[in-house]
Amino acid sequence: MVRRIRVLDDSTVRKIAAGEAVESPASVVKELLENSLDARAKNIAVRLDGGGIGRIMVSDDGCGMSREDAEVAFLRHSTSKLSSIEDLSTIGTLGFRGEALASISAISSVEMVTRERGSVESGGTRIILSFGRIAVLEEVGCPEGTTITVSDLFANVPARKKFLKSVQTERSRCMDVVSRAMLSRPDVGFRAYVDDQLRFESPPCTDLRDRAAAVLGPKVARALLELPDRSYGSVRVTGLISLPWESRSTSAGITVSVRGRVVRNRNIVDALRRGYGSRLMKGRYPLVVMDLVPPSECLDVNVHPAKELVKFSEERAVLLAVETAVSDIVFSRKAAFPKQEGTVEEGAADRIERPPPPPAMVKVISSGPGQSELPVALREMERTRSEFDEVPSMEGPESLPPALPEDASAHPLRIIGQLDRSYILCELGSDLLMVDQHAAHERVRLEELKKRYITGKVSTQELLDPVHIELDQTSIDNLGVMGSALKELGFLFEDFGPSSIVVRGLPRFMGRMEGHEVIRDLLSGVEVHEGCSPPDPSFMPELPLKEKIIALTACRGAIKAHHGLSLREMEDLIRTLLECEVPLHCAHGRPTMIRLPQSILERWFRRVL
Ligand SMILES: Nc1ncnc2c1ncn2[C@@H]1O[C@H](COP(=O)(O)OP(=O)(O)O)[C@@H](O)[C@H]1O
Ligand SMILES: [Mg+2]
Repeated sequence: MVRRIRVLDDSTVRKIAAGEAVESPASVVKELLENSLDARAKNIAVRLDGGGIGRIMVSDDGCGMSREDAEVAFLRHSTSKLSSIEDLSTIGTLGFRGEALASISAISSVEMVTRERGSVESGGTRIILSFGRIAVLEEVGCPEGTTITVSDLFANVPARKKFLKSVQTERSRCMDVVSRAMLSRPDVGFRAYVDDQLRFESPPCTDLRDRAAAVLGPKVARALLELPDRSYGSVRVTGLISLPWESRSTSAGITVSVRGRVVRNRNIVDALRRGYGSRLMKGRYPLVVMDLVPPSECLDVNVHPAKELVKFSEERAVLLAVETAVSDIVFSRKAAFPKQEGTVEEGAADRIERPPPPPAMVKVISSGPGQSELPVALREMERTRSEFDEVPSMEGPESLPPALPEDASAHPLRIIGQLDRSYILCELGSDLLMVDQHAAHERVRLEELKKRYITGKVSTQELLDPVHIELDQTSIDNLGVMGSALKELGFLFEDFGPSSIVVRGLPRFMGRMEGHEVIRDLLSGVEVHEGCSPPDPSFMPELPLKEKIIALTACRGAIKAHHGLSLREMEDLIRTLLECEVPLHCAHGRPTMIRLPQSILERWFRRVL
């Protein structure tokens, strides 16, 4: 008989194992950074050459290693961080498996120079390994800490090397790891060089915003909202999040760490987006730097080869904490009207409950009759000045300030007219303000309906002529989902045979017509109107059903695009819009108004350079 099963030789086993933790230069960077952080380094320097495929060097001023430790550090399952499985539940370090150095050294050339902190011996240790074999082990003079240099990555595993992407791609993956580490550990100083050029430099920071400025750029960092440092249930949440309109098309701007460990978790990303609710446009992602501290016994870090995924025993509590932390701040007036620099002062959350400040007055000068005063809370709607001074890209309004200038109350607001019977153009001081009439009216109606719903409680107005609605299969299914929410809102209806209902009453806060149109639309899943999402289950999934119904009603009865408006109507609309709690976005998160500052116009026309 032929034996087909063999025990693999050591070097093959090591190469296979290496594949689990080390799949690209970025994973080497990640493991080395984690080791430096675990060594309680105060400062870390990273050098990348040739996208990390050429060379990766990570240098720290951490605890270093004795000669004995340096020798065994590269063996598999050699770790100073864990001695038994029980320790795993309380593990405070990023590493614990003792595999990274073994794996990395199996598939590359490694040089390590290390000296134990506070050691009495005069020198340190230099060790060179070539594809897992120690080639040099000697004493050297060196500072305390550890420097590890990795080159010839995957040179002995051609199959894996083939899978490497371009130098550029690998480089940006490496830099992504570095930036996330920097954002998750602001207390540690970092320097990062790419092909000898300094890319990031940041001393240890006490303020996360300073670190964000170093990594994301000062302008972006200034505009982030700070979460108040507090716990939601047993989960502490800290961090910085972007204003809803500073969103991105991917989730790449989201860095979430759990106790300083950068993690990937789709559910957390979803919870973040739920926190923004209707204020985040569909399909967009916020910019987030967030650290979560759940009770340590609720955390399992040993579920992923690269330790990027973690498991929470109480995941719901963690997700709810994330969602609440975000929505508390996003739905505060602070977020609707960011202060200069976009910062939120400490204790901002405490003020959320307070009534809004009295509105400022803006004078409307109209060319027609019926001049009116615009009471608005505009003064707070200010944005970083420097943002205004830039020529925006022509891609979209995201780069334009959606708000109004800090001294808006000093500027007269004059309606110029209607564009394409869809947009209202206004002169605000010397800026151009463009208002989407449908989005604006939808917002106005949403707030009106909500107010009526809240104050009027739920009362039903019975119809003199009950309305019959025939149901197809979709409607029957939808009725199953929405039936009770509709009833709670004050809709009164009953089954009428197997496939129809009869509507006998409508919520008092809705108009008579729109009420039964809304119920029909909701049940049939019909797209209500261009520019609005269809009321299918994915329709504003973040909103509770009742709010969805109110939002749909708001949209249903709102002035459409391509609808002529009189000057008076435009004035009324803008006045009520500016009185809204959240005037800048419609229920779907689309902007209601966009301002084109004069400074940008002047640049576009090359009046100033
Ligand atoms: N930069 C460093 N400074 C001090 N000690 C280090 C450093 N890198 C690695 N070590 C030591 O080498 C051991 C093995 O590292 P590694 O293979 O990454 O396993 P792990 O991090 O899971 O313990 C670590 O437990 C630690 O004692
Ligand atoms: Mg490690």
